[in-house]
Amino acid sequence: MEGAALTRRGLLVGIGAVGGAGAMYAAMGALGLAPSEQDKDFASPQQGDFSLRGKAAAKVVIVGAGVAGLTAAYELGKAGYDCTLLEARDRAGGRNLTLRAGDRLKEMNNPAQEVKFGEGVYFNAGPGRIAPWMVTLDYCRELGVPIETFINNNAQALVHTNGQTIRARTARADMYGYVAELLAKATNVGALDKTITKDDQERLLEFLRRFGDLGPKLSYEGSTRRGFVKYPALDGGTPIESPGTLHAVLAAGTGRSITNDFGYDMATPMFQPVGGMDAIVAKLTEKVGADRIRTGVKVNKITSLADGVEVTWDGGALKADYCLATLPPHILAKIPHNLGAGITTALRTPVPVAAGKIGLEYGRRWWELEDRIYGGVTETDLDITHIWYPSHGYHSERGVLVGYYNTERNAELYAALAHEDRRRRALTQGRKIHGDKYGKDLLSSVSIAWDRQEHIQGGWVHWPAFDSSFTLLQRPSGRVYFAGDWLTRLIAWQAGAMESARSAVTQLHERVLRSP
Ligand code: ALA
Repeated sequence: MEGAALTRRGLLVGIGAVGGAGAMYAAMGALGLAPSEQDKDFASPQQGDFSLRGKAAAKVVIVGAGVAGLTAAYELGKAGYDCTLLEARDRAGGRNLTLRAGDRLKEMNNPAQEVKFGEGVYFNAGPGRIAPWMVTLDYCRELGVPIETFINNNAQALVHTNGQTIRARTARADMYGYVAELLAKATNVGALDKTITKDDQERLLEFLRRFGDLGPKLSYEGSTRRGFVKYPALDGGTPIESPGTLHAVLAAGTGRSITNDFGYDMATPMFQPVGGMDAIVAKLTEKVGADRIRTGVKVNKITSLADGVEVTWDGGALKADYCLATLPPHILAKIPHNLGAGITTALRTPVPVAAGKIGLEYGRRWWELEDRIYGGVTETDLDITHIWYPSHGYHSERGVLVGYYNTERNAELYAALAHEDRRRRALTQGRKIHGDKYGKDLLSSVSIAWDRQEHIQGGWVHWPAFDSSFTLLQRPSGRVYFAGDWLTRLIAWQAGAMESARSAVTQLHERVLRSP
């Protein structure tokens, strides 16, 4: 092995010396030494792309300064494109929204909320977590946005179902234990004889013993994995009393709540920018140039012309060579254009999904002090759906819990309430899980109903099918391009917005390079 490694290293040094770091990296990928899974297809446009072709960078008007619009402007800017971003809201970032003291959160059909958090306290009202494989982290690295771990899966957090609250570790131990027992017993009575060999049955049993922490008779009788009422130290501690029967465990319905992070997009470790998700917006804005972003500009018409595009708003108009439209599709669909009825129909196809969150600021981090919960998520079958504990600022004085993070019907239910009633309801639900302390030491709160955010009107969208409407909008219509998380399979992730922006930028740049 050592010899082989040395040979490979020698080869790579040679390739690096001749072809540079890029060639060496590509060779490393070919040798399986570098992550080749990562999308390396994208190449940022560069000034140098124009030099041999005698072409020049074009003028681009970008409608919407959310993550897609900002990423596109940043990438196009690398090659000297003259980009202007038109943003209807009063700040850039779109759904990447971090709220801090002094912020004012407006809402349709409800009064605005003044954010009264303490100094240094923040609440990510939109995106809050990033999976390690997502392009979002590449941008954090490139832009110099420091990141830290976001704890998505915490065995010490809770599961609340059917009126009962237990630790996630207990729920997992019981579900894994009983599933393992059932499968082990089925194996032992020959139920798998026609499916797998005796040898494989032995291997399976060996795994199931570990998976479920089964007893000698392949029964699940509980396990220290379930946790302790009094933690062990000088003595063995006091384990949580034995599990309920299989019937009781199934009836409690905890199984639903322990698979939440099984998905590829939710698998730990996850990450967050230090100090708030909007650090990504701040850095992109800095790179793009704040003077290129015009806020408070609500576009009311997009016209694709033979030699360019014209975008107009109340009291203004801008001509450019190309337009990149990054608004949510249901908002874009309402803006008059000359791209044809097919585009409008396609834009109307995805359905907005409601999503809401409340940030509850406490003056005492009781979840750490009393419940020993450091970050993570409590899953519930209540209308609050999840409670998030902060993955930063441990042991500091204050902290913000996400008191609900819900979607669809539950989000609509909270959206319809006055701010104070949302908070009251969130506290009533939280008390069922954490007891009276949930209502104490509360300093302030702020809630967001994304479906009531002007110019956004939804948490994200749902495509009934990724059909021809979806693919139609992934290509330009005349001189108008589209981008947003809604045009990818990474809906509701910033990575989707970024990947979509990259795709539009690549298509636009190739067209400019090809143009006569
Ligand atoms: N990306 C969204 C989340 O992290 C759906 O919850």
